[in-house]
Amino acid sequence: MTSDIVAPSRALLAEPLVLPNGFVVPNRLAKAALSEGLGRRDFTPGTRIKNLYRRWADSGVGLSITGNVMVDRTAVGEPGNVIVEDRRHLDDLAAWATIAKSGGSKVWVQINHPGRQTPRTLTPRPVAPSAIAIPGTAKMFAQPRALSDAEIRDIIRRFATTAAVVTEAGFDGVQIHGAHGYLVSQFLSPLSNQRTDDWGGTPEKRRRFVLEVFRAIRAEVGADVPVGIKLNSADFQKGGFSEDESLEVVHALAAEGIDLLEISGGTYTSAAMLGVDDSLKESTRRREAYFLAYAERVRAERPELPLMLTGGFRTADGMVDALASGAIDLIGLGRPLAVQPDFPADLLAGRADASVVHPRRSGIRLLDNLTELTYYSVQMWRMAAGKEPAPDRHAALNVAQYLFNNGLESLRSPRA
Ligand SMILES: Cc1cc2nc3c(=O)[nH]c(=O)nc-3n(C[C@H](O)[C@H](O)[C@H](O)COP(=O)(O)O)c2cc1C
Repeated sequence: MTSDIVAPSRALLAEPLVLPNGFVVPNRLAKAALSEGLGRRDFTPGTRIKNLYRRWADSGVGLSITGNVMVDRTAVGEPGNVIVEDRRHLDDLAAWATIAKSGGSKVWVQINHPGRQTPRTLTPRPVAPSAIAIPGTAKMFAQPRALSDAEIRDIIRRFATTAAVVTEAGFDGVQIHGAHGYLVSQFLSPLSNQRTDDWGGTPEKRRRFVLEVFRAIRAEVGADVPVGIKLNSADFQKGGFSEDESLEVVHALAAEGIDLLEISGGTYTSAAMLGVDDSLKESTRRREAYFLAYAERVRAERPELPLMLTGGFRTADGMVDALASGAIDLIGLGRPLAVQPDFPADLLAGRADASVVHPRRSGIRLLDNLTELTYYSVQMWRMAAGKEPAPDRHAALNVAQYLFNNGLESLRSPRA
């Protein structure tokens, strides 16, 4: 391949993106949030997470979004979460930010509350919009109780506090985790939010929570700090959060001044975000980027809103096509970064055309979810220990190592 053929289109990947508030993302490649599972017992970042972000610092991405950071130590989503409730560990957070930014990437912290989607071993008495358990998962997730109005307001405040602390620590921006079945998406879905007060009952009331979270964060960090959201195109559940409702949420957030929308889809029990869900149409699964058709809808209705699309991108051609079509502005990459930390830099330099990451499917769903879960975590832990990822390592070894590190119960935790 000669560079004079590749350069003109590949050059799209290297173009800076200027958000409406003037914030500059140096290029069009972004690391999507990957829960690292590397926080210390006291929920601080510690050394291993910094090692991982040191390895990622030269990955070449313009924007790096951290794995989800929780807002409340009584609501832990996954083993090894970092939790930021106040300024107590500002120095440790600042050291993490400095390392993560040292290669020139902008780094945003993803902020999350798991709601009912938390293993019973971590959160025995979870809270949720309504007292409705995740169907069919009673062994993994405990029955939640409904939040009171005062508790909802407290969680909104917590999102804002976490955003204020991490940006004070030096992170460049924040992203609300509004996708994948966690608390924000529990409020949005009519299946999990059956409240009859001002927080549920109609689409407007169901989206009040996310709008209040956004407003509270904006009031804390100001207009210059970018605040984004990761949102589901749909949750792929019958009677659940639909594409049409998702679009309404997008309109409402755009009107409030959200700086970047990252599009994803699915929940832990319906893992469309990883491309492994049976309810994804075959035509969708065959497309490189799972949620591109929805992104096109958003772009048509809200052309001024900066869009990042995550899920399935693996080839330079697929990425360039998506950018060149004008449908999206940023390419989100999750699993490729866990296995090939230099992949974005290699793409930009023309040294790589495609990621080696491919679906590991046996056809047995439970086994596939297990392999998918452990494979990428173990790769991140290798980098955290100063080693390189080992993409060809046998899946069984990864499962064994995951169990050794986290225990059997942890396999029950959601990782996306
Ligand atoms: C091990 C692992 C951890 C993840 N953790 C998060 C997370 O903390 N927050 C989030 O929004 N998505 C998370 N995801 C989902 C990814 O951000 C991304 O949406 C998904 O992997 C699809 O993109 P990809 O095809 O490029 O991997 C995780 C995915 C994996 C495999």
